[in-house]
Order: sequence, then C-alpha cells, then structure tokens
Amino acid sequence: MNASVRQVAQPEIKAIRQAVLRPYLSVAECDLPGDEWPETAHFAAFSDNMMVSIASIYHEPPPGSDRIDSWRLRGMATLPECRGGGYGTACLQACLDHVRSKGGQHIWCNARTPAVPFYERYGFRRIGEEFEIPKIGPHYVMEIEL
Ligand SMILES: CC(C)(COP(=O)(O)OP(=O)(O)OC[C@H]1O[C@@H](n2cnc3c(N)ncnc32)[C@H](O)[C@@H]1OP(=O)(O)O)[C@@H](O)C(=O)NCCC(=O)NCCS
Repeated sequence: MNASVRQVAQPEIKAIRQAVLRPYLSVAECDLPGDEWPETAHFAAFSDNMMVSIASIYHEPPPGSDRIDSWRLRGMATLPECRGGGYGTACLQACLDHVRSKGGQHIWCNARTPAVPFYERYGFRRIGEEFEIPKIGPHYVMEIEL
C-alpha cells in the first residue's frame, strides 16, 4: 500500500460521502451540520494520489451531554474496491490524533451495525441498544475514552 492521509477541505470529501454513505442524495445535499465549524476537521486517505477514504470529526458532545472534551466522529467511508487496505484506519487515526491535539478526551459516533467490529478493533465500545436511522439502517452509539 502506498497510502497517505491529510486534512482536506470539506468540498473535497463530498463525492465519496455521497457515493458510499448517501447514495440516495445528490452530492450537493451531502453537507452535514457542523461541517463548517472552525474546529471541524475532514481527513482523507489517498492511494497513489487518488482519494479513497474519508472521515470527519466535530467538537460536539453526545445528545444530552455537556462534556466539552467530547467529539463526534462522522462520515467514515472507504470506496468499496479499496476496503481492507488500511485507509479507513488511517483516517480514523488522524481523527483520534486531531482530538488529542485539541485536548479532547472522548469520541462518540453513531456506528452502522456492520461497521461495529471495525470500531471495536480500535477500542470503541457499544452503548445501549441498536437503533434504526431511516434510509440507512441499524446503528449503535459507540464511544472511546482517549
Ligand atoms: C468501515 C469502513 C470505513 C472501514 O474502512 P477500510 O478502509 O476498509 O478499513 P481498514 O482497511 O483500515 O480496516 C482495518 C481492518 O479492519 C477490518 N475491517 C474493516 N471493516 C470491517 C468491518 N465492517 N467488520 C470487521 N472488520 C472490518 C479490515 O478487514 C482490516 O482488517 P486487517 O487489518 O486484519 O486486514 C469501510 O468498510 C466502509 O466504508 N464501509 C461502508 C460505509 C460504513 O459503514 N461506514 C461507517 C459508517 S459508521
């Protein structure tokens, strides 16, 4: 693998976000709340200069929490033909590093159920019951203390 990961501008990640995570929307409809917040970071992994994986990280506590050290991981996606190559891990690690560099101590996400084992590999744990997000499918809330 010849992979590199770097922070990119939000418009750059939208094509993969749409193709992998929101195929029922247009690219223009794939903005997420907080994408533009100053502390938000969007990361992308590249294979031979082609973007193949993305992830975004937001300074946002879980619903009902006021933890100011809590961040939300969102929009993790790797192109199907590039999965298993370590690109998702590279984006996830960049998000973890970003949160640590900002003094954050907690990360949470709404994990798609098929992706739960991926997050568990890196220390995330499930909280609560499985729930459904319309058009997308079953999810668990997951979290990790850094
Ligand atoms: C989840 C996802 C981002 C992982 O990306 P990836 O680039 O394939 O991840 P990596 O290659 O870094 O995987 C690292 C390891 O985890 C494993 N892994 C990846 N996804 C997994 C999954 N869903 N279940 C179990 N293991 C998984 C890989 O096989 C690899 O194992 P290895 O090191 O033993 O070979 C990717 O599968 C994806 O885009 N899925 C569809 C969209 C999605 O569900 N996104 C998450 C939304 S919450």
